Amino acid sequence: MKTDNTIILEGLNDDLAHEYQAVVMYNTFAATLVGPNRKELEDFFRSEIPDELRHAEFLGNKITALGGRPTTRIAEVPTPKDTRGMLEEVLKAETQTIERYTQRREQAEQLGDLALVNDLEEIISDEAKHKEQTAKMLRGDWQSVPAG
Ligand SMILES: [Fe+2]
Ligand SMILES: [Fe+2]
Repeated sequence: MKTDNTIILEGLNDDLAHEYQAVVMYNTFAATLVGPNRKELEDFFRSEIPDELRHAEFLGNKITALGGRPTTRIAEVPTPKDTRGMLEEVLKAETQTIERYTQRREQAEQLGDLALVNDLEEIISDEAKHKEQTAKMLRGDWQSVPAG
């Protein structure tokens, strides 16, 4: 039988695998862009990487603190054919990430780990910004998206 801790550890490790996925996705997309707006999109993709690495660092430490082992797994990275496909994959990934962290926040609340609830809310806020910036990019609103 699984304890509550086991369930949240499995979830946090899935979150970690997806943070690694995000880092690889942004780096790969930034390196392989072609066409108009290439520079703006490259800067945009690269600007997300420090946030995702910070989330991965937090998760590794938290998983260890809860008695687990941080995964080295990387969730599968999509391979879109063009720039619009990249933005659509990013939007999908950030949307799913917010859903995962919202579920994790509920689990943390059930465990009574209010510090984790607070930390997850900050991460959700970061991911919501990534999602909003990506949605703007998809509308072709290139100039209004801040680089950082
Ligand atoms: Fe993240
Ligand atoms: Fe993100």
